[in-house]
Amino acid sequence: MKRFGAQIANHLCPGDIVALVGDLGAGKTHISQGICAALGHQGEVTSPTFALVNEYTDSTPPIMHFDLYRMENAQELLDIGWEDYLERDAILIVEWADRFPELIPEGTHCIHIEHLPQGRRLSYDKV
Ligand SMILES: Nc1ncnc2c1ncn2[C@@H]1O[C@H](COP(=O)(O)OP(=O)(O)OP(=O)(O)O)[C@@H](O)[C@H]1O
Ligand SMILES: [Mg+2]
Repeated sequence: MKRFGAQIANHLCPGDIVALVGDLGAGKTHISQGICAALGHQGEVTSPTFALVNEYTDSTPPIMHFDLYRMENAQELLDIGWEDYLERDAILIVEWADRFPELIPEGTHCIHIEHLPQGRRLSYDKV
């Protein structure tokens, strides 16, 4: 998962959004770790489940890492400044992006993770 994250990181540009969609424990945070490390972030990367968003400004470009799992509704995401985040020249990684598809802009890179009895299946589409 980390290696896959590092590989997709090479193709990301400032302003890109990566939606990570998959069940609990599917590996969304591990992909996030790979992306963040590849872009130069030095610290740890954990699910921002309670923080809602973690900002890593030591990477190039900076990374804003969201987790929508605990959000009750789309308004909560708007309240933490979602639209301002979209304007920043950062990479936005969004775990559980499928919770509020109405807020996920066109052009988002969507990685689906299917949790199989043995291993994971990854698929990609552009929203
Ligand atoms: N490809 C994989 N194969 C086997 N185990 C994996 C794989 N990817 C992740 N894991 C394991 O699954 C667990 C959950 O991984 P991770 O935290 O990345 O999932 P997540 O999708 O972010 O979960 P959450 O929905 O709770 O945020 C970890 O223990 C991790 O080591
Ligand atoms: Mg996670």
